[in-house]
Amino acid sequence: MKIFVAGATGVLGRALVPLLVARGDEVVGMTRSPSKQDLVRDLGVRPVVADALDPDAVAQAVASAEPEVIVHELTALSGKMSVRDMRHPERAAMATMTNRLRTEATDHLLAAGRAVEERRPRFETSHEQQEQLATRFFAAAEEGDLEALEELLAHELVLRGDGGGKAPTIARAIHGRARVARTLIAGLRAAARAGGFTLRREEVNGQPGALFFDREGRVAGVMILDVAGGQIQGVSSIVHPDKLRHLGPVADLRALLRERR
Ligand SMILES: NC(=O)c1ccc[n+]([C@@H]2O[C@H](COP(=O)([O-])OP(=O)(O)OC[C@H]3O[C@@H](n4cnc5c(N)ncnc54)[C@H](OP(=O)(O)O)[C@@H]3O)[C@@H](O)[C@H]2O)c1
Repeated sequence: MKIFVAGATGVLGRALVPLLVARGDEVVGMTRSPSKQDLVRDLGVRPVVADALDPDAVAQAVASAEPEVIVHELTALSGKMSVRDMRHPERAAMATMTNRLRTEATDHLLAAGRAVEERRPRFETSHEQQEQLATRFFAAAEEGDLEALEELLAHELVLRGDGGGKAPTIARAIHGRARVARTLIAGLRAAARAGGFTLRREEVNGQPGALFFDREGRVAGVMILDVAGGQIQGVSSIVHPDKLRHLGPVADLRALLRERR
């Protein structure tokens, strides 16, 4: 992932950047000081010099990095404090500057990020590509192939469950490629152990997806994929019985899971 770190030379920036590099991210580190470019290079990333309070400089720096994510680690808190500053820290120059970095600089970074986003070419995923992605997705999930599954998922995808209190499901939305992939694989394994579920690939409401059936052929759930830009951006799991009824007889998921215990 392309990540822009504003404040790469700070205490947090210096700790964060090597972790991102080790993860395989493509990082650009911003500093206000030309003399600190070598420090950024030593962290293993490309430096860009810009004053965070200068919107044009920030726009240029961010545009050169074309990041998917911007990290804000800017402060002016590391300078020396006088006794007067200590008595009234809220009035100290470093506090005023830090407030500006947290408000104005944030606005500049956001505007620069949005400009990059608007310039990014968008490509439609054809119906055929969507179906191919979905087939690979369900195959990888069923086989428990974490690496193959992660490859198909957008970094920031979301997994949502909908049991409405009437069927067991994930309580909260799960964010992020790695967590979603692990949850899906664990969920399908648990479902296979519980009820010998079978999966049938199908288009659901015009979107690629799959239906899950228990041993008696009753529908136990539906999974719908949200595909954009050649990747899976979202997964919805529907197990609420009222939403499945139009598909035929509905399995009692709770009872099935209880039977296995
Ligand atoms: N350090 C901690 O223990 C700690 C704990 C909790 C939370 N935090 C939070 O983590 C964030 C980062 O803190 P930190 O301790 O890493 O800060 P820091 O060590 O003081 O570093 C500040 C960074 O901001 C950059 N910067 C300041 N003014 C700038 C400007 N006008 N234009 C461009 N860059 C500018 C500095 O870049 P150059 O000097 O290279 O120009 C430096 O990279 C802050 O939000 C802080 O509140 C820190």
